[in-house]
Amino acid sequence: SKLTVVGAGAVGSSVAYAALIRESARHVALYDIATARVEAEVLDLAHGSQFTGTSDIIGGADLDVTNDSHVIVITAGAAQKPGQTRTDLAGVNAGILRSLVPSLLERSPDAVFVIVTNPADVMAVVAQEVSGLPRERVFSSGTVLDTSRLRWKLGQRAGVSISSVHAYIVGEHGDTEFPLWSHATIGSVPILDWQPLDGQPKFTVDELDQIAIDVRDAAYKVIQGKGATNYAIGLSGARIVEAILEDEHAVMPVSTVLEDFHGVSGVALSVPSVVSAAGAVPIRETSFSEHELELFHRSAEALRQVADSIR
Ligand code: NAI
Repeated sequence: SKLTVVGAGAVGSSVAYAALIRESARHVALYDIATARVEAEVLDLAHGSQFTGTSDIIGGADLDVTNDSHVIVITAGAAQKPGQTRTDLAGVNAGILRSLVPSLLERSPDAVFVIVTNPADVMAVVAQEVSGLPRERVFSSGTVLDTSRLRWKLGQRAGVSISSVHAYIVGEHGDTEFPLWSHATIGSVPILDWQPLDGQPKFTVDELDQIAIDVRDAAYKVIQGKGATNYAIGLSGARIVEAILEDEHAVMPVSTVLEDFHGVSGVALSVPSVVSAAGAVPIRETSFSEHELELFHRSAEALRQVADSIR
């Protein structure tokens, strides 16, 4: 199996690093237009090969390094600077994707595309449109990362492991995202009923609201401190790649272009979706409370405005 990561910046290099360590794909290729940068990243990663199992790494600034990939993760583009929102990046990054995706597809006609470049939901629409591929074959990592941030916080507070937390962030990967609290459980216990194991008080509605805000703003905090977010998105990306290459049918909140999903069409938003070798298919049975439905439509509206602004 072959994974190509496009963009060898903070995020792309970390996706490749995580994929090598997790052995997400047999072959990993890293591509970037910045020749010196990508060659250095590939060398540095290759130098660790003795300690990373059977995956190998190649790469460079020649698009042919991407040939015959099964999955292509796109992280190329301008990144958020402190104070910048993800949507500020839309115009520049849409241009990059419009030129990149056709040349990648030509070299890997069977690939599934995973878009990480921000604003990820809008970029998923751009990439899907320019590729002409079915909706399930071009999607964004969406709120997989945000959901991991949420589960980590809830697990810490509840006194349980992260895998015992069942909760999703849905909607935009960005400022209008929100948790599906109506379905959030620890084990099978609704979150508000959970008695934390360390004797702390139960969760309150106000506290959950604050946790949602912290998760939403988490990237800003990390970028403020270190200039980029990379490790958690690297792991999230590698995990999505595995679900595709292993044909797992794993449920993940990725972002595909929706078609009449709770009344939303033509924009990409994250909802729990089944991820397999065929790509990602939103789970239509996912139900929302009345308030959640309102937030979902608000998220769709915000993304529609960004999408319109770059047409
Ligand atoms: P970075 O600036 O470190 O790296 C971007 C890389 O893209 C650079 O090496 C640049 O040379 C390359 N690039 C630009 N145009 C290219 C082209 N036409 N072909 C090939 N490579 C090209 O940025 P960083 O921190 O790696 O972020 C990358 C993107 O990922 C940003 O848009 C960022 O906002 C996004 N991101 C998305 C997350 C998510 O959850 N979806 C999480 C974190 C970042």
